[in-house]
Amino acid sequence: MSAHYSHYDALENMKRAVADGQHRSVIGGMWDELGALQKRFLLDQGLKPHHRFIDMGCGSLRAGVPLTEYLDPDRYYGVDISQDLLDAGYEREIVPAGLASKLPRDHLTANPDFDATGFGVMFDYGIAQSVFTHMPISRLTDCLKALAPVFVEGGRFYVTFFERPEDVAAEAPVPHDPGGVVTYPDRDPYDTTLTALRAATSAGWRLDIIGHWDHPRDQRMALFVRETGQD
Ligand SMILES: C[S@@+](CC[C@H](N)C(=O)[O-])C[C@H]1O[C@@H](n2cnc3c(N)ncnc32)[C@H](O)[C@@H]1O
Repeated sequence: MSAHYSHYDALENMKRAVADGQHRSVIGGMWDELGALQKRFLLDQGLKPHHRFIDMGCGSLRAGVPLTEYLDPDRYYGVDISQDLLDAGYEREIVPAGLASKLPRDHLTANPDFDATGFGVMFDYGIAQSVFTHMPISRLTDCLKALAPVFVEGGRFYVTFFERPEDVAAEAPVPHDPGGVVTYPDRDPYDTTLTALRAATSAGWRLDIIGHWDHPRDQRMALFVRETGQD
């Protein structure tokens, strides 16, 4: 992957930030609030301790810590573009929290291609929280194609997005409340219309728009349900 969509693609800068002890702030801060929100939401959506879970763009494990606590041992898996964020999440969050025995180190892998096939398991649930808000929505299509082979029939993959009203002028920035984030169709932080989100859905997935889920920066939620008959 050569494109540069956001500061997350500048891996050397990320390495320095993490070395400076900023692994919580570089992924957006709000550490406790956004970790707890993801866990609460997923439990409301039916996540059970025995489910195999993939956290796509898991970063430094803001959700990984509460989800590892909740899930049975060996059920949480994470992929991120940054090995440094994964290392910081494991060494500075999982280990001090006493959770290392529940999360094997090789359940976290770094690649830019949303590739979770190397784990050799099938997933029941997953999330990409504040990931596709930092890249064009076409990358979501790439992710859905990459994840389709590793999701069980009926598996549920949750994806957050900034919604762009259909009637806003093509180039106009969109302000969001709460949070005050201003989003764009073609640069970070990225937004998407629901029409574009539907168009980004690849074969083998059914899209349900959930919408509001109490996100403090007005990110909305989409659910992709794996339907193998649709491949
Ligand atoms: C705002 S952070 C969110 C982290 C995490 N989902 C959370 O809620 O704490 C965005 C994450 O997406 C990751 N990311 C960016 N591009 C990626 C890619 N192509 N594949 C996987 N992760 C990516 C970044 O490294 C970063 O950890």
